[in-house]
Amino acid sequence: MDIKHVLTADQFTRSDLDAIMARSLEMESIVAGGGSKLCDGKILGALFYEPSTRTRLSFETAMMRLGGDVVSETDVTFSSQTKGEVMEDTIRIVGGYSDVIAIRTKVKGEAKLAAHYSPVPVLNGGDGAGEHPTQSLLDLFTIAKHHRIGEERMRVAFVGDLKYGRTVHSLAKVLRNYDGVEVSFVAPEVIQVPDDYLEEGDEVHYELSDEVLSGADVIYDTRMQKERFDDMDEYHLVRNAFIFTPEVVGKMKSSATLMHPLPRVNEIQQAVDKLPQARYFEQAQNGVPVRMALIAEVLGL
Ligand code: NCD
Repeated sequence: MDIKHVLTADQFTRSDLDAIMARSLEMESIVAGGGSKLCDGKILGALFYEPSTRTRLSFETAMMRLGGDVVSETDVTFSSQTKGEVMEDTIRIVGGYSDVIAIRTKVKGEAKLAAHYSPVPVLNGGDGAGEHPTQSLLDLFTIAKHHRIGEERMRVAFVGDLKYGRTVHSLAKVLRNYDGVEVSFVAPEVIQVPDDYLEEGDEVHYELSDEVLSGADVIYDTRMQKERFDDMDEYHLVRNAFIFTPEVVGKMKSSATLMHPLPRVNEIQQAVDKLPQARYFEQAQNGVPVRMALIAEVLGL
């Protein structure tokens, strides 16, 4: 595998995915064993220009578990970008301080631009309503732990804000590498998945029917991305479109997995957390070994 940057889920071949999953499993044992010194002397630059808890902290934890260090910028108001510095310059400078950069930006396509100017590998931690490729790998890792993806027929239903939800965009692309995965997209029309992520044979639904609920092996729910709506009236119309209550989750197979990239707002009730299908906290935890694997790969270690 020769991965320089991680910018889009399009870049992964099936053999890359197999290698990243295998490496992530090894990293999981390394974490359980107390960490490693693989990245001793290496520095991760974390540039997060949109709110983040899991992505930034799991990237930082990942680098620290590998024995490396972190420098981070988490609020654009404290960045020289507010003085008028262009992102290209920030990237050149931080790339001079660090060995690898994780970046989250408000603008679709900006991670790719950053990679163009960066002297070190860039990991896209979310570019606006574009993609979130590192999340899609931890999502895949979570699915692979509970389902025989690629080996048997399985149904994955994406639910929620499929227009602006970048985690959906990247995971939908990743799933195309596996045989037998049937994808459905469930959302009101105004936040349905953009055509770029749709493929022949996918199902598109505007309501969450009992048939979709009971037929799914994985349901991937998402938050309505309030901050990305141009029209707040539209947001208020769809914000309560789907609420996972214990009763709704009770219609899913007991072997099925309910995922969510988090943060959740009101779309999954807390009473659901104790049900066997609820695997979103485990999913978030998987961010550490998967990001350790990615950091090691792009550093050629
Ligand atoms: C998501 C994101 O930022 O795209 N969260 C995450 O990275 N785990 C989802 C969201 O904000 O709704």
